[in-house]
Amino acid sequence: MTKPNLQVALDNNTLASALADVREVGPIVDIVEAGTILILQEGDQAVKALRALFPNKTVIADTKCADAGGTVAKNMADAGADWMTCICSATIPTMKAAAKEIGEIQVELYGNWTKEDAQSWLDAGISQAIYHQSRDALLSGGSWGEKDLNKVKTLVDMGFRVSVTGGLKPEVLPLFKGVNVYTFIAGRAITQAADPAAAAQQFQDEIVRIWGK
Ligand code: 5RP
Repeated sequence: MTKPNLQVALDNNTLASALADVREVGPIVDIVEAGTILILQEGDQAVKALRALFPNKTVIADTKCADAGGTVAKNMADAGADWMTCICSATIPTMKAAAKEIGEIQVELYGNWTKEDAQSWLDAGISQAIYHQSRDALLSGGSWGEKDLNKVKTLVDMGFRVSVTGGLKPEVLPLFKGVNVYTFIAGRAITQAADPAAAAQQFQDEIVRIWGK
């Protein structure tokens, strides 16, 4: 079993604040993400700044793209992103157009999607999915549990590289023990911690404890 990556999601309202956070935690995490909130506020400048700071790390643009996949992907690739996200309700042509421009996209799973939908993404050559508990669902009382574990396992068994995200804290990670999770994506638990570097290290330590080095 491969050790899952740790990705920090920068959902800051300003680039200055995102850069202050990522200067502290960037060296500890495996992947850096310009979050949806940051991209909506600051546009491709956020991606450009992350690429400049971390020339050798994977940089993700969390665009949650729903349409105009080719144009959005070209803009994100030009800014330096390796991958971008498309919302699962986007059409296959949107996803394919995006993948053609940027190389690889991740399907961000929200709301209702079926195993048949997932197979159609695989058939289109898309092999990354992000299993997401929305922050609004969590704020309305949702929590991580067996239902999530089963969906993640199904996607892994189908052949996806699966990232898991949404209000993650280190104590949620044991739920996924024994599952080949590709990446855990954490935002607020790192960036809003009193000591973001220590919080990122705590995630990494827990990943190593559960999955090994
Ligand atoms: C919100 C996102 C977030 O980037 C992702 O959920 C991680 O953030 P947090 O750990 O703060 O929930 O995609 O749409």
